[in-house]
Amino acid sequence: MKTFSFRIHSDRTIKAALGRGMENVPAQFPELFGRADKVCLVTSSDAPPSLRARALALFPEGARPHAYYWLPPSDKAKSLAQAGALCEFLFEHGFSRSSLLIAAGGGAVTDLAGFAASIYMRGIAWISVPTTFLAQIDAGLGGKTAVNLAGAKNIAGTFHQPALAVCDTAFLDSLPHAELRSGAGELVKYAIIGPGELMRTVSRDLRKVLAGDRAALTACVSACAAYKLKLVAKDERDERGVREALNFGHTAGHAFEAMSGGKLPHGEAVARGIRFALIASRETGILSKADFKRLDALVDALRLRPAAVRRDFRRFLALVSRDKKARGASNRFVLAAGPGRLCPAEDLDAPLLKRAFEGALK
Ligand SMILES: NC(=O)c1ccc[n+]([C@@H]2O[C@H](COP(=O)([O-])OP(=O)(O)OC[C@H]3O[C@@H](n4cnc5c(N)ncnc54)[C@H](O)[C@@H]3O)[C@@H](O)[C@H]2O)c1
Repeated sequence: MKTFSFRIHSDRTIKAALGRGMENVPAQFPELFGRADKVCLVTSSDAPPSLRARALALFPEGARPHAYYWLPPSDKAKSLAQAGALCEFLFEHGFSRSSLLIAAGGGAVTDLAGFAASIYMRGIAWISVPTTFLAQIDAGLGGKTAVNLAGAKNIAGTFHQPALAVCDTAFLDSLPHAELRSGAGELVKYAIIGPGELMRTVSRDLRKVLAGDRAALTACVSACAAYKLKLVAKDERDERGVREALNFGHTAGHAFEAMSGGKLPHGEAVARGIRFALIASRETGILSKADFKRLDALVDALRLRPAAVRRDFRRFLALVSRDKKARGASNRFVLAAGPGRLCPAEDLDAPLLKRAFEGALK
């Protein structure tokens, strides 16, 4: 197990434990668990039984048993109503400001449970235990919590850092291949936005990750999670432009995800969003054809299935203009000038966007 601690403010750090097959985490972080009067373990109703067993190996029950709460599967969990229902459950079960919430699941569980933890009694401590590949390299880290509104992604949310993030790649043994491929979409993002070393790790391990190779999964989780936490520590609230790199592929990706009505997994939508951003970068002339070919080959390696998205360009434009990152512009995207070289671009014209839209959904 590797443990990481990044200082955000003089009085606050982000803590994470990364590795495979950990046990009894509270014994290693007594300062985080000693004070908790009650613990609630939040998972999703469709998670396999092995997920709860692994979560209990990580967080064994003490003299007082945990409370258990099950959320509906995937993004069905991410609504204000679900957050309210979880808060009511905590209240009815006597949870106080000294209680602890443990969110063990994919990004939908960590987004919703983190959101509920941030509003319950104006904020209680929570532990993020991401159990999908995508959530271990991205969603379960960094303290952004969210629910969807009116069919659009992550419109209401908070920043609420987990007291600890625990990425145990043993959870991934039960992960279906489609979820590995979805996570690999975010992995490609890291290769493009990160330093050369991250590009080398991902290029070496991408195919092995898709084949479920345990060593490659653990190596990629360690490298990507550490890189994300480093960016988050520099720009916790996404105000300085550092954290914006993590949105590469996400503006178009979120629109594709919303347009699919939930049929397109998040990481696959992001992979299409990455392709969109690469085409737009080439078309604006900031990305050379050679670099485009090299970076787009990483998306190709994912062997994406045909996208279950209606080719409705008007709806796409409406969604990207309402994206919370548009900041009043008609559209705003993170583009790439090359590996590790990103720049925001605003108000791109419709014909260029249409070419990128069509290329991304091919
Ligand atoms: N907060 C952030 O910074 C951030 C970043 C990226 C994505 N997200 C959000 O994350 C969500 C996507 O997360 P996701 O890809 O983890 O999908 P998900 O949470 O929808 O989970 C996918 C499926 O995998 C199952 N599952 C989870 N762990 C499993 C395991 N170990 N074995 C078998 N099945 C398992 C779940 O029950 C679910 O059916 C989206 O809502 C997205 O918006 C948030």
